[in-house]
Order: sequence, then C-alpha cells, then structure tokens
Amino acid sequence: MTGDGLTHALIEAEFAGLTRYERISLATPVRIGIVGLGQRALQHLKCLWSIPEAQIVSLCDPFPENLEEGKLQSYVEGFELRDIRTFTQFDEMLAAGNLDAVYFCIPPNRHNGEVIACAAAGLALFVEKPVSLYFDEAVEMEKAIGAAGVIACVGFNQRHVPNHEGIRDFLQDKRLVMATIVSNGTLESHSVKHTRTEDLDGPGNRVWAASAAWSGTTVVEAGIHQLDTMRYWAGDVDWVRADYVHRDDDDIEDGGDNPYAYSVTFGFAGGLVFNLLLSRLRKTFYGDGYNDLMWDHGHLKIEAGAPVAYYYEGPYPPETNPSVEQLRHQVPVPDQGRDGTHHINECFVRAVASNDETLMRNTFRSSMNSHAAVLAANASDQLGGEKIDLNAFLYDDTYARFRAKPSN
Ligand SMILES: NC(=O)c1ccc[n+]([C@@H]2O[C@H](COP(=O)([O-])OP(=O)(O)OC[C@H]3O[C@@H](n4cnc5c(N)ncnc54)[C@H](O)[C@@H]3O)[C@@H](O)[C@H]2O)c1
Repeated sequence: MTGDGLTHALIEAEFAGLTRYERISLATPVRIGIVGLGQRALQHLKCLWSIPEAQIVSLCDPFPENLEEGKLQSYVEGFELRDIRTFTQFDEMLAAGNLDAVYFCIPPNRHNGEVIACAAAGLALFVEKPVSLYFDEAVEMEKAIGAAGVIACVGFNQRHVPNHEGIRDFLQDKRLVMATIVSNGTLESHSVKHTRTEDLDGPGNRVWAASAAWSGTTVVEAGIHQLDTMRYWAGDVDWVRADYVHRDDDDIEDGGDNPYAYSVTFGFAGGLVFNLLLSRLRKTFYGDGYNDLMWDHGHLKIEAGAPVAYYYEGPYPPETNPSVEQLRHQVPVPDQGRDGTHHINECFVRAVASNDETLMRNTFRSSMNSHAAVLAANASDQLGGEKIDLNAFLYDDTYARFRAKPSN
C-alpha cells in the first residue's frame, strides 16, 4: 500500500472504532457557510446535517427562493433554519463572520473573487469542480489558498466511492498501459438546475450544464470526474489530445450548444494512455457506458456494478489455455455501501477540525492537474487536435489565450 493508501486505512480504523457519541464529544464543531444552494449544495447540506462535527451557520444564494426553509426541508429531512443566517450577498455573509469553512457550489462561470476573499480571511474551502472555467482564475485561487495556508479541497467525491478505492488498491503494483471510458449521455439526462439562468443571460430552461459558456464543455464539467478518478488510480497527466464533434447550429435548443461527442486522450506521466469518449446527443434519451483498464498482464472492467479483473496466475506457459472462469477475479472493495459524497464531507470536516489536510483525498493544489488537463482538452480541440504538453499549457505564451478569463 502506498503512503496515501495507508493513511486512508489508518484514518478509517481510527474513526471506525468510535461511537457516534464519542465522535461528537471529541469533535470541535466546524462552523460552515454554503455559497450557492442548488442541486449539489443540497446534497452536501444533507450530508453535513448528519455529520456531528459540522455546524451549518450561514447560507448564501442570490435567489431568495433557494434559501427558503420549506424548500431546503424538501431536500434535507429534519432541516431547520433556526439560528442559521441567510444572505443574498456573499460580501455580507463574509463580513458577518463566525465561520471556519465555506463550501462553493455555484456554476463554474459565476466565480468572482469569492474563493480568494475566503482564503484571505483564513477560512477553509470546499470548492465544487470545476473550480473555474479558466486556468488563470484557478491559479489565483490556488495562490490565495497557499498564501493563507488554509485547508482546501475540490469536490471530487468519486475518489471516495468504494469501488474506486478497491480498484486503486488493486492497481497499486501494476504497470498501467491503457484505459478507456465510454460515457454516452443525452441532453435530456441533464438535470434542471436551481440557478435562475433565464435572469442571467443563460439557458431559458435552466439546464446550464448543456451550455458551453456555462459548463465549459461536457469534458470540463463532467469528464473531469472520470479524469480525476483516473488520476486517483494512475497519477498525473503529462499531455492531452482532443477532437470534438460540434453541434449543428440548427440542432441547438435552449442554449444547449455543447458538442455532440468528444474523443480525448490523456497521456499519464507513468505511461498510461487514457481514452475518454463522451457524448451528449439530443432526442435520444437512452445512454450507456463502458470501462476498461489494462495493465501489462491483465485488464479490469466494471461488471454488474462491481470491479472484475481478468489475469493469469499459474505457471507460464500453461499446458492449455485457462478458461475465462479461471482468469476472472472479483476485485475486493472496502466499505461496500458507503456513499462517496457523504465520505468526502466527513473527510473535509475532520481535516478542518484537526487542521490536517492528509485526512482528505485531494487538496485544491493537488487537483490543479485535473483542472489543467480538461481545459487543455478544449484547447487541443480548438487547435485541430494538437497534442498539448501540460507544462507548456500552463506556462507557454502560446496557450495564454486558453488560460485567460475574458474581461467583462
Ligand atoms: N461533485 C459532483 O458530483 C457534482 C454534482 C453536481 C454539480 N456539481 C458542481 O457543483 C456546482 C454547482 O452545480 P449545481 O448542480 O448545484 O448547480 P445549480 O444551478 O443547481 O446550483 C447553483 C446554485 O448557486 C447559486 N448561485 C449562482 N451564482 C451564485 C453566486 N455568484 N453566488 C452565490 N450563489 C450563486 C444559484 O442560485 C444556485 O442555487 C457546479 O460547479 C457543478 O459542476 C458537482
């Protein structure tokens, strides 16, 4: 087991031994504010409401309807506003103080210095992915977080999904060579969001994840999950190459202009080549997917929701070729049934309570490689499928226009 894996195991053992009551009495409550009370924040609020060490103190959303107790209760059983303060202006929430940590769950094109202001105020940060649509803006956030020395993570809950942890442990001593993930989604499967995009020059139907200006493309908004999970298994990305099939103008409705399909190749520092194939067709309604991970002497797939590896262990060469049954191995999965979103919240709250970032599975800084890789995929597509070295993407003037946030 690597250092990271060992740390995870030790943390789990340490907390598993405690009763809920013992955990409450040991914990220093972490005072939390949430900015953006939409789809994702409601999921976090539900988790945080059941985590004893977490104390919700402030909620902020520009649209008062998203702060109404009745609406929040319909998503979070037993929720009560009581002493929780609500704000429609972020500046007022920050000025009111009484916070240890702030969650940002706003559309990625809506950031406007708030993360930086929180870091400067010494607050811990949980920022939903993607943390921005622009690399320069993410760098400014990272600098502020680093300068303040605050605990900060990005909402990569997939690292906390039991199957993914089992796969990570299984792959630790393997030489990964190629991985392929196919995710065929549909425009209709996008959720209707809580941001009043119709009041913000956005899509009239509030499905902002289908809009390039709001989501930064499906690779940036959704594919970053698969890419970051691959990084959890395989380390950092070195280069990117991408080709998208762009949507016909007469097939765009309600601002849903993201491409039909995406073919992205991520080259990892360890030699792995990862193919990510995504689609978002309209008038289709049915989606499916496929996952395959190869190492030099075997491959792993998700079958019926569980990871299964195919490899040979006997003397080589065998007298007769082994059967599929002999090659098929169920990959052990820890903590079956654990919810990834709940667990990332627990880890973050504990990290803040003990000022120990090693209790988390990512930090803001460690997530920058995932962010850079998906933004570089967009750049590669715009440059006709150019192979982009990530270091060059970060530092060379050639790519400056792909990193910059357009001025208003
Ligand atoms: N980790 C995951 O699995 C996961 C799942 C869904 C969404 N997300 C991410 O979470 C973020 C939010 O997505 P969502 O689905 O909750 O969207 P949403 O539109 O449902 O919710 C966003 C909320 O933010 C509010 N808001 C908008 N601008 C704001 C601002 N400037 N200040 C304060 N509040 C503001 C909106 O009114 C809305 O209530 C996105 O970055 C998205 O990619 C992550």
